Amino acid sequence: MSFWDKVSPVYDILQVVNRRSFRAMAEGVRQVVPEGAKVLECAAGTGILTAAAAEKAESVVCTDLSLPMLEKARKKCADMGFDNVSFEERDIYNMPDKDETYDAVVAGNVLHLLDEPERAVKELARVTKKGGKLILPTFLNADKDFSTSLLKIYRVLGFRSKEYTFDEFRAMLERCNAGRMKITRINGFMPAAFVVIRKG
Ligand SMILES: C[S@@+](CC[C@H](N)C(=O)[O-])C[C@H]1O[C@@H](n2cnc3c(N)ncnc32)[C@H](O)[C@@H]1O
Repeated sequence: MSFWDKVSPVYDILQVVNRRSFRAMAEGVRQVVPEGAKVLECAAGTGILTAAAAEKAESVVCTDLSLPMLEKARKKCADMGFDNVSFEERDIYNMPDKDETYDAVVAGNVLHLLDEPERAVKELARVTKKGGKLILPTFLNADKDFSTSLLKIYRVLGFRSKEYTFDEFRAMLERCNAGRMKITRINGFMPAAFVVIRKG
C-alpha cells in the first residue's frame, strides 16, 4: 500500500490548512481551462482540482496512480453532479494517449514528489496539442516552522518531496523547454506556484 493509498481517507482533512492555496489553485484552473476543452488530469488525488477543470471542459480524464485516491475523486465528482469526468489508473510518466490529444493537461501538486519531474513534464507536453495548455500548480518550500513540522509528521508516514523554492521550480520547468511559461506565486500556509505553459 503506497503512502497515498494510506492517506486517501484523510487527505482532504489534512488539506484544510492549505485551503487558501487550494482555493487560489482551483480558481486558476477554472479560469485557464478553455471552454469545451478536452482535458487530462494527472495525479488528481481526491479530485480537489478536478471539479474546477470539469466546469467548462467538454470532458476530463481524471487519473492517478492510487486507486483509493481515484475512488475519492469519483465520489466527489458524482456528488457535485459532473457527468463529463472519467477515471483511470495511470502513471504520470506513461500516458497511453497519442501525441497532441488534449487541449489542456492539469497536474497539480505532484511534480515536487517525483524523482524525474522533467521526464513527467515532457510526457505531459507530448499529449498536449500545439497551442494547448499545461497547468501545473505546485506546493513549494514553505520555510515556516509550523508547516515544516507538519511535513516532518508526513515524512514519518513515508512522504517524500523535493521542496523546491520558487526559483528552483521555475528553473526545472524552463529546462523542459515545453513552451511559453507564465508562473505566479500563491501565498498561503504552504506557498505554491501557479504555472501555465502554452505548448509551442
Ligand atoms: C499531493 S497529492 C495531489 C493530489 C491533487 N492533485 C491535489 O492537488 O490535491 C499527490 C498525488 O500524486 C499521485 N502520484 C504520485 N506519484 C504518481 C505517479 N507517478 N503517477 C500518477 N500519480 C502519482 C498520488 O497518488 C497522489 O494522489
